[in-house]
Amino acid sequence: MLKPAFVKELRSIVGTENLLTEPEELTVYAYDATRSPGRPWAVARPAAAREVARVLEAADRERVPVVPRGAGTGMSGGSVPSEGGVVLSFERMSSIREIDEADRIAVVEPGVITGDLQREAEKRGLFYPPDPASSAFCTIGGNVAECAGGLRAVKYGVTRDYVLGLEVALPSGRIIRTGARTFKSVAGYDLTRLFVGSEGTLGVVTEIVLRLLPLPEAVRTVAAFFPDAERAIAVLPLIAGRRIIPRALEFVDRGALQAAESHLAIDLSGGAGSMLLIETDGPALSADREIDTIEALCREAGAVRTIRAATPEEQQRIWKLRKSISPALYALKPKKLNEDIVVPVSRIPEMLQRIAAIGNKYGLLIVNFGHAGDGNIHVNVMHEEEERPKAEQAVREIFEAVVRLQGSITGEHGIGLAKAAYLPLEIGPDAIAVMRNIKKAFDPNNILNPGKIFL
Ligand code: MLT
Ligand code: ZN
Repeated sequence: MLKPAFVKELRSIVGTENLLTEPEELTVYAYDATRSPGRPWAVARPAAAREVARVLEAADRERVPVVPRGAGTGMSGGSVPSEGGVVLSFERMSSIREIDEADRIAVVEPGVITGDLQREAEKRGLFYPPDPASSAFCTIGGNVAECAGGLRAVKYGVTRDYVLGLEVALPSGRIIRTGARTFKSVAGYDLTRLFVGSEGTLGVVTEIVLRLLPLPEAVRTVAAFFPDAERAIAVLPLIAGRRIIPRALEFVDRGALQAAESHLAIDLSGGAGSMLLIETDGPALSADREIDTIEALCREAGAVRTIRAATPEEQQRIWKLRKSISPALYALKPKKLNEDIVVPVSRIPEMLQRIAAIGNKYGLLIVNFGHAGDGNIHVNVMHEEEERPKAEQAVREIFEAVVRLQGSITGEHGIGLAKAAYLPLEIGPDAIAVMRNIKKAFDPNNILNPGKIFL
């Protein structure tokens, strides 16, 4: 599939031991979390931006697809080599180059594990807020490619809110810099924002400048269990009414709670029908006051049990339950369809009703959990292989409802392969035409992650 001369050229760029071509080695790079494999022709593991640029230039000349890949934890197929080609894997570009305490920034390579950056920042009294549920193993490069959101977006925003600047290699072999090392910069078009969330279709990010915050003094955590989802969700406007923004406000329905508890063989819920996991932070007095208010509101709204985490270990225990939901559901139905819809927070009750009606219509179990505080719900359509067509029809109807409620079909996982067919439900033809023209300007020969975002 790849010309021998081209393979030789790739070897000379990244080094023989960093160009993989054996089938058993390639299999490892064929997947992401969607579990629908692609077929890489080769995997290159560059060590520097210059090598990335040279691979791109050669691939562009040969019209060979290039698919950038972090840890392969994505949930929309963004890093799956669906049309073959060369996978660019960033495991050798994984250093934190700088944490500048005076300017409160970090400069990192794309292969850095998100949790490692969080920990390094914390050692210096600093805070990198974006926290995807997979932070222990996903990479910053992947987070930038998909504009990952996660557990603290309700208060702190998503990956794009922390990216100040980028170094990006283009198919022409040129390397550009966008943005700045400062929090402010309005020089020219905002290319940084354009690259964040562009799913590796416009350029390959080789360095990222990130904004950091001071580490909050205190974090307080409560899990509240309710008889049903309606009563849990009814707490959201009550919290908003007190003008409190928790740093996490997660919702877990009965199916997700049961799946995670049996996966971990624990019982925190006592058989309850849903859970809210809420966290406040800031100066200790204020974090305490806010969590007290929130716990009282949960009880007023019908919580049958609340658990306050008194120690960091107890906080970890509650978060472990939440972070186990995704693997627990995959263990039950490996082919489940996992969506990440987002609707205005006030429309969540309507959305959940609509999802239940669609599940009943198709006789499919639909399990919901996620970042209710910002309206971002993970809708999991559980099904067996032979039920795939009706599961896909259910997803289409869910997306139609999302758009009617003025939401978005993807809050944090990206369009990738999985949602490309549905993009026109949300984005009109003229806007898609503008996006396609932007793609052409950066990647005229369509070598960068082809088949993603647009059908
Ligand atoms: C999460 O919030 O747990 C992740 O986005 C993963 C998922 O949606 O399954
Ligand atoms: Zn999520």
